[in-house]
Amino acid sequence: MSNKLNAVGILGIGSYLPEKILTNQEIEKIVDTTNEWIVTRTGIGARHIADENMAASDLATEAAKRALKDANTLPEEIDLIIVATVTPDMHFPSTACIVQMNIGAKNAAAFDLGAGCSGFIYGLTVAKQFIETGMYKKILVIGAEALSKVLDWTDRNTCVLFGDGAGAAVVGPTDEGMGILSTYMGADGEGGKFLTIPGGGSRIPATLESVKNKLHTIKMDGSEVFKFAVRIMNRASQEAIDRSGYSLEDINYLVPHQANIRIIEAAAKKLKLPMDKVHVNLNRFGNMSAASIPVALDEAVSQGKIKKGDLVVMVGFGAGLTWGASVIKWNK
Ligand code: ACO
Repeated sequence: MSNKLNAVGILGIGSYLPEKILTNQEIEKIVDTTNEWIVTRTGIGARHIADENMAASDLATEAAKRALKDANTLPEEIDLIIVATVTPDMHFPSTACIVQMNIGAKNAAAFDLGAGCSGFIYGLTVAKQFIETGMYKKILVIGAEALSKVLDWTDRNTCVLFGDGAGAAVVGPTDEGMGILSTYMGADGEGGKFLTIPGGGSRIPATLESVKNKLHTIKMDGSEVFKFAVRIMNRASQEAIDRSGYSLEDINYLVPHQANIRIIEAAAKKLKLPMDKVHVNLNRFGNMSAASIPVALDEAVSQGKIKKGDLVVMVGFGAGLTWGASVIKWNK
């Protein structure tokens, strides 16, 4: 076996949003908020919400099928499925195993990855290692979230921010010099307390008390996360660009995590990218955690904003706290 590493790229991409749309005007009827506050402070106008009987694996399965079609790949060809999610169907089996069954990827290993909104970048990084070494040929990396199920719909600080959806990519070998040129991941457990779902694990198992105290829903110190995000988006992007061997001036398009338009604008400004080179869809979808980046990437590609040979930076941050960035020379 040669020591030369294979170039790794995205061979196909797909996404899925549940049909139901919840607008800011509708949220005005649920909590003490206004469309004006949500739009000016976050940039969010609407979000998609999964049905009562729909879980993360259902969203992930649809996105995976679309990515497989786009990559012209059969489910049997997939060696590994990684589902990045903070809203798995259940503790176990993993959501990845459920997707494996749903799509009939009978030759695939499968596991979930928990890195909050950075999950898709973490997943790509893991997939890249397996393909580079030749251990695997094709890997499905999916970001899937049903965040509406873990929101406190009486807490205006959080319930206005999030939405449901899934995005998937088939990762595999590509031509030399193309594809995923670099990835960068980081974490700061000290900041973990700023963004949590405290209950339901082995620290605070589910009890009547934990449910009464709403410990199974998202708790967030928004301003701490905001400060961290503005700092890290720039640092992580720059690190991934440095590792890619290119420089800032070479970048054609930015696909950032979709948490807050003010965070995205600050990152774009620091990276000296005009906003027409930055993908924004949080006005329609809100923050879909691990699904935000792959859904945005899929949209940008299908809208023709990313073309073969373009240098694309993806960057995210989230619960953990975690962050991740990647530079791709688009190979499709
Ligand atoms: N409607 C009306 N008023 C509101 C709402 C709302 N929906 N939410 C908060 N407010 C109020 C607050 O109560 C506060 O009122 P007070 O001053 O009387 O106490 C006031 O608005 C200002 O609150 P701030 O927190 O200062 O508002 P800010 O401008 O910082 O925006 C926000 C808050 C949008 C949450 C922002 O801090 C943010 O985007 N933070 C980052 C969030 C994020 O990126 N999360 C990532 C999650 S990723 C994952 O892994 C799941």
